Amino acid sequence: MKKILFTRYLVEQQRDHGHIPSQLRLLLEVVARACKGISQAVNKGALGGVLGTAGSENVQGEVQKKLDIIANEVLIEANEWGGHLAAMASEEMDGIYVVPNRYPQGEYLLLFDPLDGSSNIDVTVSSGTIFSVLTRPEGASGVEEKDFLQPGHQQVAAGYCVYGPQTTLVLTVGDGVAMFTLDREQGSFVLTEENVRIPEDTKEFAINMSNMRHWDQPVKRYIDECLQGKEGPRSKDFNMRWIASMVADVHRILTRGGVFMYPWDKREPEKAGKLRLMYEANPMAWLIEQAGGAATNARQRILDLQPTKLHERVSVVLGSKNEVERITRYHTEA
Ligand code: AHG
Ligand code: MN
Ligand code: MN
Repeated sequence: MKKILFTRYLVEQQRDHGHIPSQLRLLLEVVARACKGISQAVNKGALGGVLGTAGSENVQGEVQKKLDIIANEVLIEANEWGGHLAAMASEEMDGIYVVPNRYPQGEYLLLFDPLDGSSNIDVTVSSGTIFSVLTRPEGASGVEEKDFLQPGHQQVAAGYCVYGPQTTLVLTVGDGVAMFTLDREQGSFVLTEENVRIPEDTKEFAINMSNMRHWDQPVKRYIDECLQGKEGPRSKDFNMRWIASMVADVHRILTRGGVFMYPWDKREPEKAGKLRLMYEANPMAWLIEQAGGAATNARQRILDLQPTKLHERVSVVLGSKNEVERITRYHTEA
């Protein structure tokens, strides 16, 4: 079988469909290269002295792991000099990072969660990098935070790289979803799956069950019906999978279907949910939709939400279409 490397895939996509201009291709190659570096650091684990906490907190008040900071730095250093970007935003930085004056500024904006599921790293469970690419609004001279506040349907590329037993990069540029596995001997991402499709029905759900007492009634109703199995209204037995790395949970769903939920709950009622709209929910929602699934905030399509701030949070329900539609209906009916 002939090996199609990431670069070749991008070049051929551009040639055949014309939706990866050369600056975007450069951006995606740079992100892929940064992910290889992060994968190396994650793999070294205790040998690299990279495990444990860094002793600081991010803007969301979460304790930062050493690897959260390392991954953030790797992505910034890789991306700032190429001339393809105007600015970046990250879970691990309070404000936006404008490309320094000494480098040329490009037309793209890059958002990322440098390391999703970082609480799992010390126990060698999968984690990953999530990214979203937007175009800078036309005519703007400088670049400001408000330039990033675009709904998810305006993304021009989105993806993630999961660091697990394999390192796999998953990408959409709006023409389906492709997966690339890192060939460590060669140091290249190789195309291993194209036209990824999510089955419309599933018997597998992912939610942090320990939060059950804080959930809203429609979420309780849905999970309760699943738990009743064959004897209940769903007339089938369900299985639960919860990795606590969104990136790994989404990867499972893209691979074999399922539904993932991180809904609003009563613990912090003023916040919409735990996950962040711009660099977690939006890129994942687009990938899921591109693979034939659905993604809502339990009421509306995630990709249509107008962000109001960079680190905005959102409820997330995504995965197999019929299941997401059911959960969304339970909410809108309530
Ligand atoms: P991050 O490591 O980037 O802060 O994100 C972790 C997220 C997500 O990956 C996962 O679904 C969720 O947090 C798990 O949180 P809880 O264990 O608090 O439920
Ligand atoms: Mn995350
Ligand atoms: Mn993170």
